[in-house]
Amino acid sequence: KPYISYINNKMHIENVSLDTIAEQVETPFYCYSHSAIKASYTAYTTAFNQLDTMICYAVKANSNQAILKTLANLGSGADVVSGGEIRRALSAGIPASKIVFSGVAKTKDEIAFALDQGIFQFNVESEPELLLISQLATQTNKLAAISIRINPNVCAKTHAKITTGKSENKFGIPITNARQVYQYAASLPGIKVQGVDVHIGSQLTDLQPFREAFAKLADFIAMLTMDGHDISVIDIGGGLGIGYGENEIEPDKNEYASIVKSCLGHLNCKIIMEPGRSIVGNAGVLVSSVVYVKKGDERQFLIIDAGMNDLIRPSMYDAYHQILPVDNTEQEMSVYDVVGPVCETGDTFTKNRELPTAKTDDLITILSCGAYGSVMSSHYNTRLNAPEIMVNDAQFSVIKPRLSYEELIAQETIPDWLSQ
Ligand code: LLP
Repeated sequence: KPYISYINNKMHIENVSLDTIAEQVETPFYCYSHSAIKASYTAYTTAFNQLDTMICYAVKANSNQAILKTLANLGSGADVVSGGEIRRALSAGIPASKIVFSGVAKTKDEIAFALDQGIFQFNVESEPELLLISQLATQTNKLAAISIRINPNVCAKTHAKITTGKSENKFGIPITNARQVYQYAASLPGIKVQGVDVHIGSQLTDLQPFREAFAKLADFIAMLTMDGHDISVIDIGGGLGIGYGENEIEPDKNEYASIVKSCLGHLNCKIIMEPGRSIVGNAGVLVSSVVYVKKGDERQFLIIDAGMNDLIRPSMYDAYHQILPVDNTEQEMSVYDVVGPVCETGDTFTKNRELPTAKTDDLITILSCGAYGSVMSSHYNTRLNAPEIMVNDAQFSVIKPRLSYEELIAQETIPDWLSQ
């Protein structure tokens, strides 16, 4: 993975050795490469330089303020899915004029806040949502710019839990009755119909489903134009996959850009993209220590101090993540089930994986954890959060500390009538 390498047998993120960080920060912790994030963002701007584009980083993938600031400095906008994410984006310096708001359940408060801030557009997912936006906008004399999210009914060929563009998914409006919904939108006060939006799923490694969806979208936009709508924005969503496996080839951003250009370029619209995983996924690792090596009857367990509460992807999506030792001098190999401390069988990172023979206190890294890692973590089993570290060249900074047990427990209150 870019910006991750072994120097003198120690894994480094850029020019910082992970064991140096581990001397100062207790494991488990997340560690991100600032340069890797910049490089993946720049790969998008380079690939799309012939089109009028706005990259709206999908904040949900990793919403740490330092990550958002890194992207804000590069000129990125944000794709948000809650009032909380709008606040995070604004506080990291992403202007409201570059924020698009997606999600099926935007509440009254969230819509009012977004209108007040003057975001770029709402990606609308239903008729009742349209009506509510119209009502709130008219009450405050505002004009809400909207795109309607179309569900193109294509198969994204990805994990069932992260596919979104099939007609049985809860997302978007079926392409079959979207035309009427556009008519309805145009009839509502306080609404400015400006675009069309689509997002068919996440971790797509085959570009064909994009081609299919964008082709349907182009036909659909032609029809909308005939109906008299002034469509100037096409939001193509996110979803470009990354390589999780060893030497796995990532879908090519230039090829992706040429698909977008050939399917949608002739429409002369502003193209919005919402990449998340492909910006931060391979820019981060989770560093953990071996607590015990336990020999079972049939298998050997490598019990580590990171758990499913820190990284839920393997248990939730059967996701594969590469696991490597921080120190790679050990040549002998063993077969392990790598498991965490949480009291659930699902707290398993991998089964039957051949890894360098390890012992207590050895440091290991789980790769490709920059996206949907820390953001999906919890305090289950009253485990403290894994801190987050950002490396830039030869320096590193803690960008989210580990809370203390006192702070964690102090978040809860015992009602008076319960305490004696
Ligand atoms: N736009 C919308 C409307 C989305 O729903 C998503 C992701 C994105 C953009 C960004 O997609 P990306 O470029 O990151 O693929 N937790 C799962 C992934 C869930 C993705 C949800 N939506 C995982 O760990 O694989």
